[in-house]
Amino acid sequence: MMANQPMTDDELPVLFSLIGNTPLIPLHFRSDGITIHAKAEFLNPSGSIKDRLAAFILLDARRRGLLKPDTVIVECTSGNTGIALAMVGAALGHRVRILMTDTASVERRHLMRHFGAELSLFEATHGYATGIDMAEQMAAADPRIFLPRQFSNELNARDHTEHTAREILAQVHGRIDAFVSGYGTGGTLNGVSRGLRAVHPGVCIVAMEPAEAAMLQGESPCCHFIEGVAGGYLPPLLDGVSIDRNEKVASAEALAMTRRLAREFGLLVGTSAGANVVAALRTARDLPASATVVTILCDRAERYYSTRLFTDVLAETA
Ligand SMILES: Cc1ncc(COP(=O)(O)O)c(C=O)c1O
Repeated sequence: MMANQPMTDDELPVLFSLIGNTPLIPLHFRSDGITIHAKAEFLNPSGSIKDRLAAFILLDARRRGLLKPDTVIVECTSGNTGIALAMVGAALGHRVRILMTDTASVERRHLMRHFGAELSLFEATHGYATGIDMAEQMAAADPRIFLPRQFSNELNARDHTEHTAREILAQVHGRIDAFVSGYGTGGTLNGVSRGLRAVHPGVCIVAMEPAEAAMLQGESPCCHFIEGVAGGYLPPLLDGVSIDRNEKVASAEALAMTRRLAREFGLLVGTSAGANVVAALRTARDLPASATVVTILCDRAERYYSTRLFTDVLAETA
């Protein structure tokens, strides 16, 4: 599809109908007598929760006439947003340029390039702030650039209120007692908690953070292996979120649970999904057995072949 061929909403590529409406999977942990309800965001077409925001923000920009035939979409991302924007940009016929830290897994870079996006890597030392500044400077110098601004764009959170939360509300019969999520941009925590609270005001909102980088609890950002979350930056979208409970999850616990989700549940998910489930289990243990705890399986395992999720196991079995 060429960007210079105007498209009506009815003519949108079928890809857009594949985004969202993901299943809510009950995970029965028999030894604990606990069931966690996990939203299977890894089933989105590019493999992560970020397909939602890429489609929502770009379609909104398109309707408002902000995407011209020569528009270049530029974003700073830990990877999943880059893959999602590269996919949606390709479907809409736009060039996409991604700024990402040099620590993000090599599989993510391959996937973005596969969708035709251009990549610029920056040093991870100062977290996302470096890439966000770079994107703003590029846009100031080139009027063809459109910035989705995932870290500050209200649409990121609003999409989760209008879609992710609404889907969860329709999928859970009865009260929702807790919602557990890590944060990268904070869009998921902000938007889903707002949507759930409107219907279940007593829902406990739990922020999962890597134990090595628990910035919400005043600790300095440090190296951790839970890719996609806590990128050394407290995003503005978290400002409006009232968090009831913080759960620190160590990278080793997240990796162990991610492997357990594959081996015991047959779920091919990434490390932040494992971390979310660890935090959800801890939360559920402090609630009555009948409580409903919901969390997110953010992305797919295949983008972590080169990371400890797979390489540690290879080393063990070599
Ligand atoms: C793997 C993974 N998990 C969780 C998140 C956090 O989502 P959000 O940006 O909505 O806070 C991200 C975001 O980049 C991610 O890539």
